[in-house]
Order: sequence, then C-alpha cells, then structure tokens
Amino acid sequence: MDYKIALIGCGNVGEGFLQILHEKASWLKSQHDFEAKIVAICDKLKGNLIVPEGLELGKLLHLLNQRQRIDDYDPAQKKRFVDPLDMIESVDANIICELTPTDIKTAEPATSYIRKALRCGKHVVTSNKGPAALYYHELIKLAKQNHVFFRVEGTVMSGTPVFSLFEYGLSGNTVNSLRGILNGTTNFILSAMEEKDLSYEEALVEAQKLGYAETDPTADVEGFDAMAKLMILSNVIFDHPLRIEDIERKGIVTIKREDIKEALSQNRRLKLIAEINNQDGQIKARVFPQSLPLTDPLARVMGANNALVFELDPLGQVFIQGPGAGKKETGYAILNDILYIHKNLINQKNQ
Ligand code: HSE
Repeated sequence: MDYKIALIGCGNVGEGFLQILHEKASWLKSQHDFEAKIVAICDKLKGNLIVPEGLELGKLLHLLNQRQRIDDYDPAQKKRFVDPLDMIESVDANIICELTPTDIKTAEPATSYIRKALRCGKHVVTSNKGPAALYYHELIKLAKQNHVFFRVEGTVMSGTPVFSLFEYGLSGNTVNSLRGILNGTTNFILSAMEEKDLSYEEALVEAQKLGYAETDPTADVEGFDAMAKLMILSNVIFDHPLRIEDIERKGIVTIKREDIKEALSQNRRLKLIAEINNQDGQIKARVFPQSLPLTDPLARVMGANNALVFELDPLGQVFIQGPGAGKKETGYAILNDILYIHKNLINQKNQ
C-alpha cells in the first residue's frame, strides 16, 4: 500500500521522522509492505514545499542538515506563502503529520489543523501535546465520523510505546493507578546535577544544547509538560478529561545540588514524579518532586529516559522504561503510528 504524507511543522520531530523514513525505506517495504512519499511540508520558519510526485528525502535532509530553508529544495517555490489550512485541504495526501510546537493553554493552531485534516478525510498523527491534552475526545469522535485515524503515541514518552501497549498488551486490565517520570529534560537535569556535580543552571544549559528542553524550558522545569502528559494519559487510559486546574503541580527549579546530595546520603533520589490515582472512580492527578528510596524502580531511571509504573487488575505491577525525548526517538513514534494505520487499513481491506 502506498501513502502520501504531508508534514505541518518540520522541527526536530519532523526531521527525525524523515531521517528514519529515508534510512529504513527498503526495510519498511520488505518487512511491512509499506511505502510512503512525502508530498508536502509546511513550516512557519523554514518555508513550504509541495512536491506531488514525492520529494527526494536525501536531498531535503541535506538541506536541513545545512540549516537551509525547506523551499531551497525548489527555487520556484521560494518564500511562497502557503496557509497550512489551505494546504491540508488541497494537498493530495492521505496522512497529515501535525508536528508544530505545543501550546498547552490554547492547543492552537494545531487543533485547527487537525480538525481540518480529519474533516477532509485524512488520517492524523501528532506529537503535539496541546490537542491530545485538551481536545482528545472531540478529535477521536471526529476521526471516527470521517472513517480515519487520529494517533498520539509520540505525545507521551516519545517513542517508548504507552498507548499501543495499553490498547493491546494490557487491554484486559483495569488501571488502578500510574506513576512515572514523564519529562526527559527534568530527569536529565536532576541526573546531571548528581552525576556531574552541576548546578541546576549548568545542567539546564546542557539539556538545551542536547535539544531535550522545549523552546521555552519553563514548560519542562515547572512541570507543565508532565502535567500535559498526565492529561493525555487520563484521556486515553482513564477516559477522563482533566482540566489544568485539576492537577496539583510543582517543578524542579528550587532543587539545589545540596538537596540531591542530602537525599543520596539517605539512599534516596529526587525525581519529578507524575501520577494518577483512580480512587473508586475519582481521578486524582499531580506532578511534584519526590524523594524515592533507591529500591524504587523509578529511582533508577537516569538521563532523558522516561518510565511508568502501572498498578493493574488483575496483572499487578508493570514497569516500562525507554527514551522520553529526542529527535529520532519522537520521530520513531510518528512512524510507529503510521504503521499502526497501515496495518489497520490492510486488516479492513482483508475483511
Ligand atoms: N521537553 C520534553 C521532555 C520533550 O523533556 O520530556 C518530550 O515531550
């Protein structure tokens, strides 16, 4: 089956996705009978590109590596303004990857792009936390009405599977609670403060250099990013929308090197923990720094990794750990959701 894909937003995640698609093209064909063309890209800062026959990924990736504009690919398209909403409607694509930066307060313009794509009968895959946190139920309903998929795997724990694990491997369980490390940047900062004996400020600069932190690091260090991820987990796993004001939140900005050393002297480690408890149908969620005993599996998660502990009925405790941030790691989540769509379309065709 062939796919025509358009990208709205082509920052780190878009680039990571395009790199994987390029490197694994022949393996994807032989292993999954999957072939895709990138037919359009719209990026506010890097320009727009529409190539109905499918663009040469090697050539585009070279431009992106050289920090050139996307529209340098085809001088005829240089600096031509394209409204993403018009592009979504007119482009001959069956999958839209919505990869613009998260705005957790408004979820815009991403939500408008996603609504438009779903109404046009195009599948949507996103790594944008805003729409998945604030409008998940509306968008899933819209997708169903239009007989397309809306997928959000990359919004939580980047490429580490959470939602597909819940949909398949864990599907016979009820989830009593979950608690985890959901922000890679803060876990990286706390780990670097301990392992490299850095101050909070020095560790934050390292996290920014490595591209883990959001454009504005406030979202990471004040706990807003982990809060958005709890809202998404609550939507998908507990089928329960949470509002921002429902979630208790504290970040890591006041943590000092000495606090980390003090905790370690007591065989404990400071971690930013995000948790949801389902107490007889009452959903309680919070994000806050906790001093965990070193025997807790979450205390051993270091660097930009993320982890989740599920308390399940009947299975008991399940612990997952993996990459929580990064270019290729989140790019992989986009590919994984597209393969989910591909496999489901094949199944539908065979019925
Ligand atoms: N800034 C986020 C983090 C990126 O550090 O976890 C992934 O959502």
